[in-house]
Amino acid sequence: MIVTASAPGKTILFGEHFVVYGEPAIVIAIDRDVKVTAERRDDSNLHISSNLGFSGTFIGERFETEEGDGSEKTLEPIKITAETLFQTLKKKCGLNITIKSNIPIAVGLGSSGALAVATVAAIGRLLGANLTREEIVKLSFESEKYVHLNPSGIDQTISTYGGVIVYSKSEGISHMKIESSIPIVIGNTRIQRNTGRLVDSVRIRKETFPQLMTQLTQTAGQLTREAISVLKKGDLKQLGELMDINQGLLVSAGVSSEELDRLINVAKKGGALGAKLTGAGGGGCIIALSKIGKRKEIAEAIRTAGGIPLIAEKTDEGVTTWTS
Ligand code: PMV
Repeated sequence: MIVTASAPGKTILFGEHFVVYGEPAIVIAIDRDVKVTAERRDDSNLHISSNLGFSGTFIGERFETEEGDGSEKTLEPIKITAETLFQTLKKKCGLNITIKSNIPIAVGLGSSGALAVATVAAIGRLLGANLTREEIVKLSFESEKYVHLNPSGIDQTISTYGGVIVYSKSEGISHMKIESSIPIVIGNTRIQRNTGRLVDSVRIRKETFPQLMTQLTQTAGQLTREAISVLKKGDLKQLGELMDINQGLLVSAGVSSEELDRLINVAKKGGALGAKLTGAGGGGCIIALSKIGKRKEIAEAIRTAGGIPLIAEKTDEGVTTWTS
């Protein structure tokens, strides 16, 4: 039997960085996914091949690279996930794992979270477990801790459930039912960034200007709460305006960059209702909210300005598995 699992990526619509200081953030699942195929092997090895430029085999604690510098480190989360499942389910076998992803890595679109979730779901089903979504989120946390050190858990949650989620440190996760589509265009600056370093730069600014930054953070919280009710109403024009205001706050927090600002400006000239950086900033991606029928024009404007456009849509589908 071969089991395949698919899990979506994500984009943060509102509230990044300020979420670290207790304010809410809105995260949506996007129609880009990681597919993981799992199949038993006759020996006890773990063979992993991927379309990410990394392939190799774990033979006990030894690793043999087939493709890509640093593949052991890149593929280690898969080994962690497999071992977590073996321990939890009290079953063990050799595995062939194949990864196919269409989510760019290290630009804030949740590729590692989606990979962890799809891996848990595929191996879990192969081993005969009927994992609940709650269990999938929990089990995928081990490899996310290896990748992100101190993750909030939001990436695995959105990848598992799909849809739209509001997250805050104090209130945890709540699912929002949004019927309307949220037509977005993502613009990738092609610059990979380090989330931890950017979070730290905001902390330093907060220490330098505590009162100013506290007010900025509170304003961001107010803005996200406003965005929740605008999203429920489905008013895209107001939502775009709120994205512009959110970008202003992120600029003030010091996490935008010349490349992000350029893509935001061209997206707006191309017909976006609003645009902002998404995720940690410093590089990575922007998201632009499109007027009806303008997505291609916005994507073209992003491409002309040197970015990689990605026309995306909210997806309500979380992790799914099937056998062949
Ligand atoms: O770019 P990402 O997906 O790593 O998002 C980071 C979001 C931050 O708010 C900047 C950090 C965090 O842990 O919430």
